[in-house]
Parts: sequence; C-alpha cells; structure tokens
Amino acid sequence: MMIDEEQLKKIKEFAVDLDWNRAFGGKSYGNKHLFRTVLLAERIADDEISRGNPVDKMIIKAGAWLHDSGLAKDIHGDALCNQDEVIAFLEELDISDEDTRKIIDCIRGHDGRSLALSREAKIVHDADTLEKMGPLGVVRETWKRSQMGWTSERICEHLRNHLDRRKSLLNTAFAKGLAEKLDQSLTPFFFTLGGQLSLK
Ligand SMILES: [Fe+2]
Repeated sequence: MMIDEEQLKKIKEFAVDLDWNRAFGGKSYGNKHLFRTVLLAERIADDEISRGNPVDKMIIKAGAWLHDSGLAKDIHGDALCNQDEVIAFLEELDISDEDTRKIIDCIRGHDGRSLALSREAKIVHDADTLEKMGPLGVVRETWKRSQMGWTSERICEHLRNHLDRRKSLLNTAFAKGLAEKLDQSLTPFFFTLGGQLSLK
C-alpha cells in the first residue's frame, strides 16, 4: 500500500520535532530547512517526471522530511545513526517494509558520504545539496560548523571545497542548473574572502 497523506503528515510532524527540539540541542528551533528541502525535492521530482523518469513522490517527500533525522541523535554521526528510531516510528505508522527501506535509502544517500542509488534517493540528495548552495548555503554551513566548534578560519577554508564537492555529486538536470546559478553568485564573495584572509 502506498504512503497516504495522513501518514505523510505524521512523518512531517515527527521529522520537524526531531529537527527543532533535538538536533543541535534545540538551538535550530524554528528553522525551515526541511520545509524548503521538501519543496525543492517536489520540484525536482516534477521535472524528472516531465523528462519521462517516473518517481514515487510520496517516498521522496517522506525521505526529504526525514533526511536529517540523524542529527537528533548525533551531529557528528552518519546519516543513519538514528535509523532505529525512524524505523520504529514508520512501523508504528504501518508503513510497509518495502517503503521503509526506500525511505532509509533516501536518508542514507542524502549527504554525499554514501552514494544515492535509487532515483528517489538521488532527488532527496539533490534537494538537500541545493540548500548548501549560494548565499544561504554559506550561512547554513557556517552555522552548522560553528555548532561543531570550528573556528571562522577553519570554516572559511572548508567552505569552497565543501560546496565544490557537494555540487560535483548532483544527479539531476534541474538541480545542476540551479546550483550553477547559485554558485556563480558566490564568485565575488569567495574572491573578497580570500583577500581578507590573506591579510593583504
Ligand atoms: Fe539537510
């Protein structure tokens, strides 16, 4: 049986609760990353469907809501470090084992440390990666690394490489096109940043 709207609503509430109240000890309460990621994932999915690549949008939406669920357990952990809690929750909702496996695939593959294999996982990966691109991506990555105790200098050194790496792993035409535009807007930013850091 396919995931229905009622189940998806409960998945959203569960994911937002983890993200707002448990990830980063509640310090990112109220952030809208998951909401934007779901919207981006839907847009990418529609674009893929229009190109003749069928996808399961309910799996994509569920995966997009849950992709950062690991942060609730350990901000230094891997994407699946909280999978036991997620699987138990999906079981409670009567989500089938097959759909649970597909959702877990989306979580596993979202951050580039493990390759996204299914079409649905690739789309969740690309939606999350777009949140790492452009000015918003710089602010979000800086905020996250500072929560991990990194210095400004270490974050500055890391940013350009990190963005390049994430961008290079994009799968879909929609995300590649948007990432390119967002990245171009950062050229003067990184040029000026380099000058500031070199004390010239
Ligand atoms: Fe994310």
